[in-house]
Amino acid sequence: MKILPWHKDYSVNISIIDKQHKNANAIVNDLFDAAQKKNYKEIKKLMKEFIKELQEHFDTEEKLMKEYNDLNFFSHKLEHDRVMRKYEKINDQIQKKKYPNITPEFFESFERWFKNHLLFKDYKLGAFLKKKGVK
Ligand SMILES: [Fe+2]
Ligand SMILES: [Fe+2]
Repeated sequence: MKILPWHKDYSVNISIIDKQHKNANAIVNDLFDAAQKKNYKEIKKLMKEFIKELQEHFDTEEKLMKEYNDLNFFSHKLEHDRVMRKYEKINDQIQKKKYPNITPEFFESFERWFKNHLLFKDYKLGAFLKKKGVK
């Protein structure tokens, strides 16, 4: 089962951003499966991948914002930094445990964050970059 199925409305129409959003969502879906199966090794591995993917993705968006002088850079980066700190903390806890589990709250809050962040930041960034000719 996919806890967070990809929806075409999630697209911001900038190929690298869409690809990274899809990747992050796919990892979250895999994490859900691993958590259902209590596959502890897989949970740890996927959680590390999730952190890496998110960091790369935020770096990509921030680099593009800087390159094209997006005035929303600071407020947008603030949301990235906040959520990154939160997931790094969760990851630290997971890596320390022998039998890590992931609560439903993790998936709910990621979905909420993702949709909210899309709506208030990433769609706007996508439209801004489109105007600058980025594909
Ligand atoms: Fe963003
Ligand atoms: Fe994003």
